[in-house]
Amino acid sequence: MSDSILFQAARIGSLNVPNRFIRSATWEGLAATDGGCTDELVRLMEGLAEGGVGLIVSSHAFVRPEGYAVRGQLGIHRDDLVAGLARMADAVHRKGGRIVLQLAHGGHLAGTQLTGQPALAPSLAGGPEKTRRREMSEADIDDTIKAYGEAALRAKKAGFDGVQIHAAHGYLLNQFLSPWFNRRADRYGGGIENRTRIVLDILASVRSATGRDCPVLVKMNSEDFLEGGLTREDSLQAALMIASAGADAIELSGGTLLSGKLSPSRSKIDSVEQEAYFRDAARAFKAKLNIPLALVGGIRSFEVAEGLVKEGIADFISMSRPFIREPGLVNRWKSGDRRKATCLSDNRCFMPPMRGTGFYCVVDREGKEGS
Ligand SMILES: Cc1cc2nc3c(=O)[nH]c(=O)nc-3n(C[C@H](O)[C@H](O)[C@H](O)COP(=O)(O)O)c2cc1C
Repeated sequence: MSDSILFQAARIGSLNVPNRFIRSATWEGLAATDGGCTDELVRLMEGLAEGGVGLIVSSHAFVRPEGYAVRGQLGIHRDDLVAGLARMADAVHRKGGRIVLQLAHGGHLAGTQLTGQPALAPSLAGGPEKTRRREMSEADIDDTIKAYGEAALRAKKAGFDGVQIHAAHGYLLNQFLSPWFNRRADRYGGGIENRTRIVLDILASVRSATGRDCPVLVKMNSEDFLEGGLTREDSLQAALMIASAGADAIELSGGTLLSGKLSPSRSKIDSVEQEAYFRDAARAFKAKLNIPLALVGGIRSFEVAEGLVKEGIADFISMSRPFIREPGLVNRWKSGDRRKATCLSDNRCFMPPMRGTGFYCVVDREGKEGS
């Protein structure tokens, strides 16, 4: 049974995606301490491709050493990391899947104990109070823009089908977009045109490194849910500039690690009304954008997912936590078993990688009371 619009192919730039399901970037905590790809990661991505996901987005990979945010995170900051990542891309392709690499920089969320350096931030305002930070100079910004281009080229050499620029969830590029974190007085701070500038410069850097045909997605917040943070109006304006600058798709999320209950990964999604919690923003973005929109955040039911695409609120359905428990969810739905994802959205999947082991569904392995 594959009658649904969710199983119809659609394009993201030059990439043909066989169905509307995207595995949203998910830090697994499984990379080597130097950011290298491991056998476990290769097997995991292979499993997602086998499970029918149309497009896999890797976990966030840091583009510069000082952007390393959490242990077990992938890196793409050195040429010698390409060979390991090539095994990942190859394994996915052998199973008929598609995969893009998420390019990231922690900004003030960098793990200073991991990097041994102060974290770089657009300004000293806003971030976690205890982090050692340094305000970025224009030279730091130039180096960062260049690093994204170099990282994208490495991803291309490793055989990835494209890249995603991570501009959401309070990481570096979201810090620039957000007036709460960005208090700069130069051309990278101030109005939304200036606060978006670094993302546009990075897009140009990625394009000049990889060529026009390499699909580039941008994941961004619909809003930050922080007082004085990025608003929906400003975010929509930023998205329009990003689309005009040649991005191939936007993945819409929201919230930061400092936004409390309104974080990107909200818990207790017990009814269809609570699902797709950025739906209203997606509707507003989709009405203005002329590139595909992927929506992420709390989508759990087949009917909700189908409705979002049928009603023209989103072109792609992105999910993260459901695929931790059920890498085969898409094929289950395709086979006709359309019961909702079994994910309980309790967020305990964050615990194992924080403890230094790779992620897993805690409910599956340890029961409802585990961890
Ligand atoms: C364990 C875990 C790790 C995550 N890592 C990333 C990441 O590397 N990059 C990113 O953009 N989002 C990351 N996210 C956020 C998800 O991609 C997604 O935006 C969020 O969980 C909401 O989607 P969901 O309700 O389908 O889980 C992570 C979420 C979880 C649960």
